[in-house]
Amino acid sequence: MTRRTLMAAGSMGLALVAAPRALARRADSHRERVEDLIARMTLQEKAGQLTLFNDPFRWRPGNVNPGDFDTDQEKTAQQIRDGHVGALFNGIGAEQARYAQRLALEESRLGIPMLFAADIIHGLRTTFPVPLGEAASWDLDLAERTARAAAAEGGASGIHQTYAPMVDVARDQRWGRVVEGAGEDVLLNKLFAAARTRGFQGDDLADPLSLLATPKHFAAYGAAEAGLDYNTTDMSEQTLRGVHLPPFQSAFEAGALCTMSAFNDLNGVPTSGNHWLLTEVLRDEWGFTGFVVSDYTSERELIAHGFAEDDRDAARIALTAGVDMSMQSGIYLAHIPDLVESGDVAMEVLDRAVRRVLMTKAALGLFDNPYRGADPEVERRVVGSPAHRDLAREAGRKSVVLLKNENKLLPLPKAGKRIALIGPFGADRSNVFGPWSIFADREMGVTFEEGFRAALTDASLLTVVKGSDVEAPLDGGIEAAVAAARDADVVVLAVGESHNMSAEAQSRVNIVLPAPQQALAEAVAAVGKPVVVLLKTGRALELSGAVKDAGAIMVTWFLGSEEGAAAADVIFGDHAPIGRLPISFSHYSGQQPYYYSRKATGRPELPEESEYKARFRETSNTALYPFGHGLGYAPVSYGEIVLGSETLPWDGELTASVSVTNTGDRPVDEVVQLYVRDRVASLTQPERLLKAFQRVTLAPGETVEAAFTLTRQDLLFIGRDMAPTVEPGWFDLWLAPNAQGGPHTQFRLVR
Ligand code: NOJ
Repeated sequence: MTRRTLMAAGSMGLALVAAPRALARRADSHRERVEDLIARMTLQEKAGQLTLFNDPFRWRPGNVNPGDFDTDQEKTAQQIRDGHVGALFNGIGAEQARYAQRLALEESRLGIPMLFAADIIHGLRTTFPVPLGEAASWDLDLAERTARAAAAEGGASGIHQTYAPMVDVARDQRWGRVVEGAGEDVLLNKLFAAARTRGFQGDDLADPLSLLATPKHFAAYGAAEAGLDYNTTDMSEQTLRGVHLPPFQSAFEAGALCTMSAFNDLNGVPTSGNHWLLTEVLRDEWGFTGFVVSDYTSERELIAHGFAEDDRDAARIALTAGVDMSMQSGIYLAHIPDLVESGDVAMEVLDRAVRRVLMTKAALGLFDNPYRGADPEVERRVVGSPAHRDLAREAGRKSVVLLKNENKLLPLPKAGKRIALIGPFGADRSNVFGPWSIFADREMGVTFEEGFRAALTDASLLTVVKGSDVEAPLDGGIEAAVAAARDADVVVLAVGESHNMSAEAQSRVNIVLPAPQQALAEAVAAVGKPVVVLLKTGRALELSGAVKDAGAIMVTWFLGSEEGAAAADVIFGDHAPIGRLPISFSHYSGQQPYYYSRKATGRPELPEESEYKARFRETSNTALYPFGHGLGYAPVSYGEIVLGSETLPWDGELTASVSVTNTGDRPVDEVVQLYVRDRVASLTQPERLLKAFQRVTLAPGETVEAAFTLTRQDLLFIGRDMAPTVEPGWFDLWLAPNAQGGPHTQFRLVR
C-alpha cells in the first residue's frame, strides 16, 4: 500500500482573487474622455446609452424571451445613428457586428462605440455541459477553461458581454432555473461564480477574446416561493446576506463589472427598483463600479408588481434605485429626457448611470479598439475548433454523476454483450445541448447512440429503440422496447427531461419522470435484464419504481456537443466517473425546498424517536442521494479524523485530516468534503455546512491522507447586526464523502 499526504487550503471559499487592477487603470485613462462626452451629450443621447435592444442585424436563435424580437433593421440602424441605443443583444456574427459598430462610429454624432451582449451560458457554437452539470465536476479549473473557450467563441463572433454566470443559489428543485447555476450550496456557488467570471473575463477584459461577465440575477431570484419562476421572495436579511449574496460578492471580487437586476420582489421591494439592494449594498457597501442592466423588461414590470404607476414612473424608480441600463422595454429612451427636464430625476443621477456604462465600455477597450475581435477570419478559426470540442468531451465526462452501481454493473464491456439502448434520448440529437444553448451548432451534437457505436468493438451488438416520446407514449413503443430488452444482455435506459422542461419559466409541480417514460421503464425492467439508467435532467428528480430500482443510475444532465462521446467514455470504462451532486435528490417532490444545510428545528428527527418530530409521514429527512454524493468505479474507505488539537485558538489554525483508501481494483477519484456545524450560537445555524473540499486520485490499494487547515474565518456567520461574526464554542466537524454521514469529530474554538 502506498501513502501520500495532500494538504488543502482550508478556507477555500474565502481565498478570493482581487479584482484585476489593469481594468481599473485602463478605465482611469478614459475618465477624461468619458467626462468630455457626458458634457456634450444631449438628454436623448444619454438615455440612448442606457438603452439595450435586441440585435436585428445578425443571426439569432428563436426567441428566448416573451414578445417578438424587433426585426426592423433600418429602424435600429437609425436609432444607432441618432444615438438612441447604446447596446444590442442576442445576435452573433463578426461581419454584421462590424456593420453595426461602423454605424455608431461613423454615422452617429458622437461616435460612441456600441456594446454587444449575448446569452452565452454554457458555450456558443461548441456547447459545454449545462452549468449545473459542470458544477457536478466540482472542478473549478474546468469551469474556468470552458468559460474561457465560450468567451473566445463569443469574442470572435463580435460579442463583448455575456449574461452569465448565473450565481443564484437554488434550493427548490421545482424551480426550472436550477439548471443554470451551481446548485444549492453557498461555497460551491461562490467558487464557481469566481471561476466562471475569471474564465469569461480572462486576465484582460480588453482582450478581444474576453467577455464582460454578468453575474445574475441580482438578487435572491433563486428563492422564488414554491419554486415558481418570477415569484415573490421573502426572507431574513441574514439569509439574504449569508446564502444569496455571497456568490455575487465572489464574482465581483473576481472582477465582474456588470450585474443583472432580477425579476423578483424581495421583502416587498422588486429588485429592479430596489435602492437598498442596488445602491446601498452593491455600491456603498461593496464598492461595485460596473453597471447594472435590468433583466428583460424587469424595470417595466415594476408596474405589474404594483410598485410603479406607469412606464414613466417605472423608469424613474428603476434609474433612481440603480438600474443603469434598460433591457428591451425602451422606457428609459422614452421617458428619461422628460424625467430630467421636469426635475423628477436629477441630472446627476442620469450622469452617474451613463458614466458607469461608458467606463465599462472603456474597460472593454471599446474606445481604443471598437471592432475588437469581430473578424470573420478569426471567427472561422476559433468557433467550434477541435480544441473546444475536446474540451467539451472532457467537461462532459467529468460532469456525469454515478449515483448507484450494484454488482459492478458499470462499466460495460465494449464487446461480448448485447446492449439495448432504450428511451427517447438514445438516438436524439436535439436534447444533447440542454437549455440556454441558443447559439449551439445543432450539427455538432453527438448522440448517445453515436457515442456508443464509436466506443464498441462490435457495434452490431447495439440495438436502439425509442420506446416513448418524452411526454407522450409512442404507438407500439413499449412492445418494441420489450422485444429489444428480451434480446439483450443489458438494457441502457436513456430517460429523463427534455431541454425545454427546465430553465426559465419551466417550474414543475411534480419533479418526476414523465408518466409515459416511467411506464416504459417499468415494462422494460419487467423483462428481468440488468438495467442502467442514464438520467437526463436539469434538476434533481424524484425517482421511483423501475428507475429508482435500476442496477445502475448515472446522471448525465445535458452534457453538450460531445454528450454521447463523453457518456461512452465513462460507461465503457475508458474514464471513471468523478462527479458529485451539487444538489440533493429528495425522496419526494413534496419535500421541496430540500437542501442539506437546513436548520435543525426544535424537534429534529432522530433515528431512535420518531413521534412529534419535524418530518413528513411518508419519509425521513435524509436524502435519497445526498448533496456531494457520487461513486467511482472502486470503493473508497475512510479512516478516523485526526485533529491537530481539540481546540482552535482564536487567532490560530487547526488541522484536520483523514486517510482515504481505494479498496478496489481500479483507480478512483475521491472528493473529501469538510463540513461543520456550529453547535450553539446566538442565531440558529445549519445542521452542516460545506467549508472546503479536496479531490484525491487513488490507485488501487492506495491510501492518501487528505489534510485541511481551518481558521476562525471558516466559521463566520451573519450575526444579528448583519455583520460576519464568529462565536467561541463547540463545533462538529465531518470529513465525509457527502453531506450525509461520514467520519465525525468535534473541536472547540477558544478566545
Ligand atoms: C431573461 C432571463 O431571465 C435572463 O437570464 C436572460 O439573460 C435575459 N432574458 C436575456 O435573454
